Amino acid sequence: MRNKLVAANWKMHFTVAEACATAESLIRHVERKPNVDVVICPPYTALSKLHDLLKGTGIALGAQNVFWMEKGAFTGCVAPAMLVDLGVTYCIVGHSETRGRFGKLEIPESTLSLFSETDETVNLKIRALLYHNIAPILCVGETLSEREAGKTDEVIRRQLRAGLQGIDAAELHGFAVAYEPVWAIGTGQTCDTPEANRVCGMVRSELAAMLGDELASKTRVLYGGSVKAANAKDLFGQSDIDGGLVGGASLDPQEFSRIIMSA
Ligand code: PGA
Repeated sequence: MRNKLVAANWKMHFTVAEACATAESLIRHVERKPNVDVVICPPYTALSKLHDLLKGTGIALGAQNVFWMEKGAFTGCVAPAMLVDLGVTYCIVGHSETRGRFGKLEIPESTLSLFSETDETVNLKIRALLYHNIAPILCVGETLSEREAGKTDEVIRRQLRAGLQGIDAAELHGFAVAYEPVWAIGTGQTCDTPEANRVCGMVRSELAAMLGDELASKTRVLYGGSVKAANAKDLFGQSDIDGGLVGGASLDPQEFSRIIMSA
């Protein structure tokens, strides 16, 4: 039986003081259950303080991104060992926003290369994280135009295959996948539950075909995209949805603790 996993993606929100206040409030509100793993992924700047705050609470610390090299002349980048040093045990990889694919935000075309995640960099990051025993949460998902063109499954299969290329099942400790349709992220538009479950099931079948049934049956497949307290129970009750990656609704500790309780 897989434990549920509920991960907060705080994105580019909160100063260090705000992050600490939000985490303290969450710790007060949330009732921990042994079958639900909870992770907070704050901005890099708040990792150190949150590490101290979360000690002994059973809530894990995650990062939103990483660079794959060990060290060197890589201005602005953060290495996996630096995350380990701060007590990070999970890391989001290949989020649609780091891939430069946004659901609703208008980002000028000329600046899209700033968000230069590709399937290849996703693969390098997953390898680097696994080497350091940090559990990758690999995000996959289609844009609205890809969905309308009937390419949802094809896009997700490609992202999974390329992201995990050359990696063995035995190496994938703690690995999770988050199905996040790009058009549902931060838009208030959730993928309807049967369809979210169908795609998560397809992700699991693809993992089985690539890496075997054992890995597929133990890998948590999350849904992400406008998860809130009002829809979490329905989503997390589906056979192939093992929890959620939660953006906007995780910024409010009461709302996020209700989402955790739904798992
Ligand atoms: P959202 O974001 O919950 O605000 O839609 C989810 C995510 O991007 O991980």
